[in-house]
Amino acid sequence: MAELQEVQITEEKPLLPGQTPEVAKEAELAARILLDPGQTHSVETPYGSVTFTVYGTPKPKRPAILTYHDVGLNYKSCFQPLFQFGDMQEIIQNFVRVHVDAPGMEEGAPVFPLGYQYPSLDQLADMIPCILQYLNFSSVIGIGVGAGAYVLSRYALSHPDTVEGLVLINIDPNAKGWMDWAAHKLTGLTSSIAEMILGHLFSQEELSGNSELIQKYRNIITHAPNLANIELYWNSYNNRRDLNFERGGDVTLKCPVMLVVGDQAPHEDAVVECNSKLDPTQTSFLKMADSGGQPQLTQPGKLTEAFKYFLQGMGYMASSCMTRLSRSRTASLTSAASIDGNRSRSRTLSQSSESGTLPSGPPGHTMEVSC
Ligand code: BEZ
Repeated sequence: MAELQEVQITEEKPLLPGQTPEVAKEAELAARILLDPGQTHSVETPYGSVTFTVYGTPKPKRPAILTYHDVGLNYKSCFQPLFQFGDMQEIIQNFVRVHVDAPGMEEGAPVFPLGYQYPSLDQLADMIPCILQYLNFSSVIGIGVGAGAYVLSRYALSHPDTVEGLVLINIDPNAKGWMDWAAHKLTGLTSSIAEMILGHLFSQEELSGNSELIQKYRNIITHAPNLANIELYWNSYNNRRDLNFERGGDVTLKCPVMLVVGDQAPHEDAVVECNSKLDPTQTSFLKMADSGGQPQLTQPGKLTEAFKYFLQGMGYMASSCMTRLSRSRTASLTSAASIDGNRSRSRTLSQSSESGTLPSGPPGHTMEVSC
């Protein structure tokens, strides 16, 4: 019979009477969110000043997570629900985070004077080295949405050695064609700038459903004191150049990329096309069910789960380190090889809203995770 050994168990932080370890952990996370208000800085760049907010402390040998928001939003309205999501805490506590506000989008930003030349998206990307130099950070994992995803991709193309990975939500790498311009001009005749931006952020179905979320964001954008600045960022987005991604060509992203789009989202086709142009061995494509246009707002749990696996694929966050994001929960996110010939070597992550449902299609490399 195996000999019984006496084991000394010491608690680092004694639990309060009646407190379970889960409750203690939740309390610790809540305290950390409250105690880390973020440090806001501004740096001068050749294209004007840029503001960013840093959360957490730099971790040796780890890249910073750097976010870039979409038009009509700032870092808080774009990313707060994701970064303050409970399960996300276990991930982000291992990384310092730098949240960039595009010029004139930071809280309390004054309206730019008439005739101010707003930076192009390419110039916004060229401001990023000034931020990293100021902070003395050498590499990043980027998370960008819409225009922000474009900016981070442009930065990764020009500084590939400093980008370890990219999460690109709703990226449209193409310049507007003349048909898009005609449609844009026509819409502009009947809609306000705020409504056009809402149509860029959310699906028509979401907008007509007018949920609390839509009401909140419609209110934020319509009554933004810096709406004139937002219009300038919007114009830069609409005047973007083609990123010219080419599978197997010189212009491609060299790092691991996770493309994310909601099904029914306004940019679904653009993201699908982008996936077909990137290196399939480096790219995962996550199409999210029931997420509308802004998965980071509506499905922070699913995105957290996918981000965790993305980081693990890059060699960060060994699964043994994960306690809360258990590996044994019910599956609803599946990774399977796609039937699409173009994407046969890429990983397509398809998410179902129902726990335990696997996507249809041929069996492939299947990874079960919980959502
Ligand atoms: C963060 O912890 O990185 C964060 C906190 C609040 C808003 C956005 C990000």
